[in-house]
Amino acid sequence: MAVNREDAPEVVLGVSAGIAAYKACELLRHFTESGHRVRVVPTADALRFVGEPTWAALSGRPVATGVWDAVHEVPHVRIGQGADLVFVAPATADLLAKAAHGLADDLLTNTLLTARCPVVFAPAMHTEMWEHPATRASVETLRARGAIVLEPAVGRLTGADTGRGRLPDPEELFAVARRVLRRGDGGADLAGRRVLVTAGGTREAIDPVRYIGNRSSGRQGYALAATAAARGAEVVLVSANVSLPDPAGVEVRRVGSAREMREAVLAERAKADVVVMAAAVADFRPATSTGSKIKKDGDLPAPIELAENPDILAELTHERARDSLGEQVIVGFAAETDRVLENGRAKLARKACDLLVVNQVGEGRAFGTEDNQAVALGADGSAVEIPHGPKEDLADRVWDLVGERLALG
Ligand code: CTP
Repeated sequence: MAVNREDAPEVVLGVSAGIAAYKACELLRHFTESGHRVRVVPTADALRFVGEPTWAALSGRPVATGVWDAVHEVPHVRIGQGADLVFVAPATADLLAKAAHGLADDLLTNTLLTARCPVVFAPAMHTEMWEHPATRASVETLRARGAIVLEPAVGRLTGADTGRGRLPDPEELFAVARRVLRRGDGGADLAGRRVLVTAGGTREAIDPVRYIGNRSSGRQGYALAATAAARGAEVVLVSANVSLPDPAGVEVRRVGSAREMREAVLAERAKADVVVMAAAVADFRPATSTGSKIKKDGDLPAPIELAENPDILAELTHERARDSLGEQVIVGFAAETDRVLENGRAKLARKACDLLVVNQVGEGRAFGTEDNQAVALGADGSAVEIPHGPKEDLADRVWDLVGERLALG
C-alpha cells in the first residue's frame, strides 16, 4: 500500500535496547517504501545494537535520543504531538516499565507521554522477563490505558534458547501498523479483551497419508485474528491446516482434526470474552483410521464408514449457558451454497450463537479468495449486509458488531 506524500502519516518508530533492534531496520524500510514519514527515536542503549547513522540514513531524518538536542524546537513535546502513530519495536521490559509508570528521562519516554495518537508496543525479551509479574503488571497497565501491546512470538531467542519473547517478523509488524493507522484514533476498542478465533479447515484421517478435508484457506479467520490484535485484543488463534504466516501479536495453536480443534477451543473458551468460530469444521470423520497406508493392490478397501464429529459451536453456547457466562459473545460463520438466508436463520437458532456471519460459497466465491461478502444475522433478529470487499474489512465489520454486543453485556 503506497500512501500519498501530501497526507503521508507521521510515524514515530521507537527503538529500545534489545537485540531485535536490527529487525526494526526492516520495519522502517516498510514504512518509508510505502510513503510514510518516519522519525526514529531510539533509546541511548539501543544505539549499542544499531547505530545512529543507520537510522538517519534509512529514515532520512535526524536522530536524537535525549531531550537536550535542538532544545529550541522543543522536541520532547513536538514529536509526540505531531505523530499519527507511535510504534515501539522492540519494546524491552525496561521500556514497558518506564512507560507504565510515566517516567520520562529520555526523548522516547517523553514522546510516549505527549503522544495522543495510537501507541503500539511490540515487546521482545527473554521468556522469563516477559512472564515476570513486574512485566505482566506493566503490560496490563498499558493495555488498560488503551495502548496496543502485542504478544511476542514464540521461537528462537538470543543464544540457544527458544520460547515466547521473539519480536514478530517486520512484515507482520508493518501489517499491524497499517491496520492501526487505517482505523485512526479510538482504534484500540478491544484493548483488555481476550478473544478466541478458529481458522482453516479440519482434516479427518482415513489412513496415515489420506484425509477428508475441505477447501478453507483460513484467510478469513486469520484476518479476524489480525484485526482483533490491531484493535488491542489478546488473541488466541486455533488454526487448522493453514499455510499463512502467523499474524503479529496473535498466539497461534495448531490443530489437525475437528476433535483436536474441540480440545484446543474448550481449553481456552472460559477465559475468552469473545469466541469466533470461523473454521470449517468437518461434520464427519472416518469411523476408523488405519494405522498403515491402504494399498491399492490389496483387497478392495471397504467403503469408508463415517462417525459424526462434535459440534464445537453448539457446545460453546451450551457451556456458556451452563456456566452463566452471559457476557461472552459467540460468533459462528456459515458457508451456504443456496437458500442462504433461510438456512442461515435456521442455523443461528440451532447453534444459539449471538451472530452468524453467512456467506455464499461455490463458483469461486469465498474459499481461497482475497475478498468476501456476507450478511451478519443477529440473535436479536437483525441482519447486517457486509458489502463485497477485502476479508480484513469484513473482519473489522464483525468486530464492530461484536463491540456493540460487548458494550451491552
Ligand atoms: N461448526 C462447529 N463444529 C462442527 C461444525 C461446524 O463448531 N462440527 C461451526 C463452524 O465453525 C461454523 C458454524 O458451526 O462457525 C457453521 O458451520 P457449518 O458447517 O455451516 O454448519 P453445520 O452445522 O455443519 O451445518 P450444515 O453442514 O448442515 O450446513
